[in-house]
Amino acid sequence: MVTHITKATSLSPERLKQVLQSAGRMDARNSCTMLPNRIVALLFYEASTRTRLSFESATKRLGGNTLTMSEAKQFSSAAKGETLEDTVRVISGYADCIVLRHGSAGAAERAASVSQVPLINAGDGNNEHPTQAYLDIFTILKAYGQKRFTSEGIKILFWGDNENSRTVRSLAKLLVSHGPALGIQIRSIEFFGPNGFGVPPGDVSEALAGACNLMLHTKPPRLEDVDVVYVTRPQRERHQSGKKLEVVPFTLQLAHQLPRRAIIMHPLPRTDELPMEVDGDPRAWYFTQSDHGLLVRMALIWHLLQK
Ligand code: NCD
Repeated sequence: MVTHITKATSLSPERLKQVLQSAGRMDARNSCTMLPNRIVALLFYEASTRTRLSFESATKRLGGNTLTMSEAKQFSSAAKGETLEDTVRVISGYADCIVLRHGSAGAAERAASVSQVPLINAGDGNNEHPTQAYLDIFTILKAYGQKRFTSEGIKILFWGDNENSRTVRSLAKLLVSHGPALGIQIRSIEFFGPNGFGVPPGDVSEALAGACNLMLHTKPPRLEDVDVVYVTRPQRERHQSGKKLEVVPFTLQLAHQLPRRAIIMHPLPRTDELPMEVDGDPRAWYFTQSDHGLLVRMALIWHLLQK
């Protein structure tokens, strides 16, 4: 049976554990022949830097090849009115795996329903971004490995546009459903963002409510005992016109209020919500986090495509 990754929980905890263990053994600097001649199609209808290039690099590092359509909205047959389903069905005859980024929530499920090969959701509208959640979890596990966190359980604070961020949805849901099986104990998950944008969508709150301590803050909360701050940019391209979002930046002054063990994460790209002055702080882990994207995507492609 073909495995599709449309949401973060598409992989069972056991399978995700295997992928993350493999990611720890991947070599980001040298190419190998783990997947010779396998072809991964990158079908991107929305802007991307990290996700597309890390999938491309991951495939090539494994010895495979890529087919890239990076401005699919403009240059694929979508411009002639072709449906996503038809495009994906056709490409699944040309490649061994399809990585899809699309502007509509639910696009990945639709595409997976017609794909003959594994389909990986690289972000569908404001819905999910599973591989970002995998590399985020891998990063949190690295912090455990460095003995920054203990088994007492971590407090995670989502800071920013939690209402519209697909990375927040995927990570928050994955943390409560798979975290304990992966060795991540959660003390509480908290949310803060300006003008009501900090409140996560109903399905996220519901998933978290029974599973962990959940707190929604309307003012910046105390930071003294926070282990992970996950900052996100205002998702302006998804905002309804008329709803105004002011940014509350996570400044160096705020970073200094965190315990020394804490890590600051951000899926990137950042705008004005995370000033560059924070980059030199030892708690700034966002570039390490983006480096992990390559390792985790190598491992995922390998798990899905090995014979
Ligand atoms: C994120 C995305 O596309 O959702 N970017 C990424 O893939 N790292 C975050 C964002 O765009 O804000």
